[in-house]
Amino acid sequence: MEFSLLRKLFLFSFFLPSFSLAQSTSSDASIDQKVASLLSKMTLEEKIGQMNQYNGFWESTGPAPKEGSAKLKYEHLKKGWVGAVLNVTGVDNVRRLQEIAVKESRLGIPMLFGSDVVHGYKTLFPIPLAESASWDLNAIERSARLAAVEAAAVGINWTFAPMVDISRDARWGRVMEGAGEDPYLGAKIAFHRVKGFQGENLALPTSIAACAKHFAGYGFAESGKDYNTVDIGTYTLYNTVLPPFKAAAAAGAATFMNSFNILNGVPSTANAFLQRDILKKQWGFKGFVVSDWGSGAEMMDHGFAKDLKDVAKLAANAGSDMDMESYAFIAHLKSLVEEGQVDIKVIDEAVSRILRVKYQLGLFDNPYKYCDKRQEKTKLYHPDHMAAALDMAKKSIVLLKNQGNLLPLNKSQKNIAVIGPLATDKNSPLGNWRVGSDDHTATAVTEALTASKINYTYEKGVELVRGKTSFPDPVDLNMTDTAGFSQAIALAKNSEVVIMVLGEHGMQSGEGRSRASLDLPGLQQELLEAVYQVNKNIVLVLMNGRPLSITWADQHIPAIVEAWQLGTTSGTAIAEVLFGDYNPSGKLTMSFPRSVGQVPIYYNHYKTGRPGPKSEVFWSHYNDESNKPLYPFGYGLSYTTFSYTDFELLEQPSGQVRVSVKLTNTGSRAGEEVVQLYLHDKVASQVRPVKELKGFQKVSLAPGESKMLVFELGSNEFGFYDPLGNFVVEPGEFEIMVGGSSENLLRRNWSYK
Ligand code: BGC
Repeated sequence: MEFSLLRKLFLFSFFLPSFSLAQSTSSDASIDQKVASLLSKMTLEEKIGQMNQYNGFWESTGPAPKEGSAKLKYEHLKKGWVGAVLNVTGVDNVRRLQEIAVKESRLGIPMLFGSDVVHGYKTLFPIPLAESASWDLNAIERSARLAAVEAAAVGINWTFAPMVDISRDARWGRVMEGAGEDPYLGAKIAFHRVKGFQGENLALPTSIAACAKHFAGYGFAESGKDYNTVDIGTYTLYNTVLPPFKAAAAAGAATFMNSFNILNGVPSTANAFLQRDILKKQWGFKGFVVSDWGSGAEMMDHGFAKDLKDVAKLAANAGSDMDMESYAFIAHLKSLVEEGQVDIKVIDEAVSRILRVKYQLGLFDNPYKYCDKRQEKTKLYHPDHMAAALDMAKKSIVLLKNQGNLLPLNKSQKNIAVIGPLATDKNSPLGNWRVGSDDHTATAVTEALTASKINYTYEKGVELVRGKTSFPDPVDLNMTDTAGFSQAIALAKNSEVVIMVLGEHGMQSGEGRSRASLDLPGLQQELLEAVYQVNKNIVLVLMNGRPLSITWADQHIPAIVEAWQLGTTSGTAIAEVLFGDYNPSGKLTMSFPRSVGQVPIYYNHYKTGRPGPKSEVFWSHYNDESNKPLYPFGYGLSYTTFSYTDFELLEQPSGQVRVSVKLTNTGSRAGEEVVQLYLHDKVASQVRPVKELKGFQKVSLAPGESKMLVFELGSNEFGFYDPLGNFVVEPGEFEIMVGGSSENLLRRNWSYK
């Protein structure tokens, strides 16, 4: 079908934000004045110093000025040539370093103290991918809020979070750090995570600056291999990659981090199209962009910059405002400015952005705002934080299978076997990002069962890894030692039910931890099958940082619980679900593949010209595997059941569509359901996805209770970005779908005028 220009409504992205971008306020204006006044007093070296960030160089007992780079950094600090540091935490350490910047440097400009506070500081919440499975935006915001409270108590005023990269490839280790595969849900979560970290406004005592990362496309690393080439078109960039970043900017994210990858042949660090045109011009972002760790210098490895001076020129001119750990700006920007290769305006703009964030945080009023010993003593592992972490952990669990209602188990049941290396593991559930947390502090599943007075017997069955594994060691899987199998089999034989806790070691996901296999690692699959030979009554509890291909388990094991890496209170949350104290309500935010060959696999794929079997051979499919995922996006069971009826569409005078549907709890337990709404644009000027999430509501219902749910759909939902970044809304035929998973939906047609 052709769309005449008249029928096609063009709306530039700038005019159509899904959230209104932060407006200037009078306090913004006064900050701008202060920034301008300070800038006018700064020498060129001092300005460049603000654009310079160093990794921690502070020993716990004092600075280490003796050796090489430590000495250099210390000298730079005294000259006011360090704008920010990372990985320096603890009130005493931060205060001593801040004192040097404030008292010994000429202008006394306070520093930013950054850290990767990703899902908690001491009290660890579930990994972000797990949290996203809760679809509970308030709980997610609270998790970020409490992470900020603990981080602020140890001197941190800037977190390198949230990671808002969309990820479709479970091989990529960092899927654990994001919100899954969907841009609509990802944007909502990005917005709330930023709000959580930053609080009502940055000046408040426990507000810390957020950093939306990695701008942009980092989640699309080819073949799921971290740091690999990203080669996507602008159509996918605008519709899939950018929405969560735009939402983060709209939430007021103080900073952005660029990424290691290239996009259309240009490393993000030198990508003016991303940093200047889209982020700063189109979206009106007023914060600053920090490079990723050494991403500037890595442009030499990319073969994009010839030397470190070239790095500094390319990065600064493209809108990278702060250099994390490349030492390029501090070494070369001055001569580049003097030679006219970098305009002083570029420097002034970058420095103004950085100073602005410092003013917003209130650091000029009180550089020691985050250095309060009382807070440090009372806020870490605070009981309220532990309670919130437990609540979040329960909400993050996804029930994948429950044949014959094997779950929940009865607490008075005798003869329960618990088998598997992760059942007693107090470390893996903490996940990979744990900058502040103490090792081995998660509640193990066995500990939680003991605390609940559950009668069970434990056998490990197999070691997951050989020896100890801690950051940053690579995980050394046990592929040979089956010595524990026989005891596990003997125990299972004499038990009524077997809880098997299997999955990934906590260091198997995260940065630099891509996998080519998505099977249960090591000898765990063999153990599972061996136990199954003697007892089929198995509840499989999975702990992992990414979707796994567990097709055999799905075919044979009656009950499967996805328990991710749930943080400090992991075991307690799992026990509450297994024994019915909590009715699971999580829904997957990443598709689970049947086999690794299906990835990248995601529900909102574009339509192909050969979607179905018009011939046995020549259509878009695999010869040896189904096209369908094992468990789709949006999927998750409950101990109760829900029905969807009375699905109706009604045109509103405004042109919006009012979608209503009745949800009824048809089971015998109270429960929560994530009601999802999807759209499908049947014919458009660009090929559109088979379906796209455009709304959801999490609803709690008592047994037998019903509720009428209403969604409003308008141009925001019906439109999309063309490859030039224009937001277009095209009238035409759509399908509107509602249901409890992306694959189990009621459908209605709708003509959008
Ligand atoms: C990661 C970032 C992180 C930074 C600082 C990099 O390797 O990609 O996400 O914030 O290190 O730790």
